[in-house]
Amino acid sequence: MSVLFKINSSIKSYQVEILTSRLHNELTGPDQSFVLIDEYLTKLYPSISPENGITMPATEESKTLETVGSVIEKLRTLGASRDSHLVAIGGGVIQDVATFSASTYMRGIPWTYYPTTLLGMVDSCIGGKSSINVGQYKNIAGNFYPPEKIIINTDFCTTLPETEIIAGLCEAVKICFADTGSAFDEYLSLTKSTGLIPEDSLAEIIELTLRTKKKFIEEDEFDQGIRLLLNFGHTFGHAIEAASHFAITHGVAVGIGMLVAIEMSEKINPQPVKNPRVQVLFNYVRQLLSGVASLAQDLAELSSEEAFNKFKSDKKHRQHEYAIIIPDTNGYLYRKFIPVNAHSDDLVKNSFESIKAVYEV
Ligand SMILES: NC(=O)c1ccc[n+]([C@@H]2O[C@H](COP(=O)([O-])OP(=O)(O)OC[C@H]3O[C@@H](n4cnc5c(N)ncnc54)[C@H](O)[C@@H]3O)[C@@H](O)[C@H]2O)c1
Repeated sequence: MSVLFKINSSIKSYQVEILTSRLHNELTGPDQSFVLIDEYLTKLYPSISPENGITMPATEESKTLETVGSVIEKLRTLGASRDSHLVAIGGGVIQDVATFSASTYMRGIPWTYYPTTLLGMVDSCIGGKSSINVGQYKNIAGNFYPPEKIIINTDFCTTLPETEIIAGLCEAVKICFADTGSAFDEYLSLTKSTGLIPEDSLAEIIELTLRTKKKFIEEDEFDQGIRLLLNFGHTFGHAIEAASHFAITHGVAVGIGMLVAIEMSEKINPQPVKNPRVQVLFNYVRQLLSGVASLAQDLAELSSEEAFNKFKSDKKHRQHEYAIIIPDTNGYLYRKFIPVNAHSDDLVKNSFESIKAVYEV
């Protein structure tokens, strides 16, 4: 099976292809290609590992300006020129480093992306963003530089640990929930009868999610309006990810972050109305995350004070207001600004505590 669609972008429009049942060793790029690949994948899939590939571990510690510098240096040593093409194979970490490296190498070379995690397939592969960590600040540097083409081979999901599938599903359901049309219902029906991990419908979930995200990024390519709603769960999620010292991975942290955001919305609203759409999401995400074996322990060790400190330093806040994405009483997302003061600080800390308590053993 192969599905092809186009993402319109003012920078450069690009194609997404979803393949199932294709051999991994068909991964190639145009002539003059240089490959940047997750080091772990070179062991897992020796047949797709190029002799002169640039390898790096897919860890948060790799997402730095220093790594980008070393990729650029290696490209030069290997003889890459302005006519060269970068092929990136890996999850979101490889994508972030590849985007930034391709955009800056000799002022920009074209690139192709093969996402290998479900999170990369359902979410990060489109939208053109790069995010690089600097010092203690996660995703603080970055730019927009879409690839020429994204080729999604769902076979890669067969080797992903269950936690990585759950992480991808958290991002997928977030995108579908953000939609005001039918995407959330469609997502739920694709996952309804298949247990926690809907292995047989992953390709359909990927297509549904990417087509839904496409609407957001084509309307608001540079995060000025509606696309900001896709940050649902992220401000709290990044805080949890960092405060856990990355023991809780990005997608899982976004899942917890959505629960914290829902908790916040109920605390902020003077007359909280438990909206059924929001409750369905809450229960689905809570149950999905129960499949992450280490989560209860990781959350028990997480300090709400430290998570709050990370929350405060998020780049999406204003000087005197915290910016959060929460559901309204009708169950749809909106951007809410709350004043930076002791009351708001307590609300945030208490919301972290409430969700930690959900997973207490
Ligand atoms: N730029 C964006 O738009 C964007 C969006 C979302 C997330 N992100 C970033 O993406 C990162 C998270 O990315 P991720 O969750 O895709 O994972 P990742 O790249 O961190 O990889 C997760 C783990 O899975 C392994 N792995 C990768 N493919 C595999 C496969 N097919 N089989 C077995 N193991 C495999 C990796 O080696 C790694 O250990 C975070 O840094 C986040 O900030 C970026």
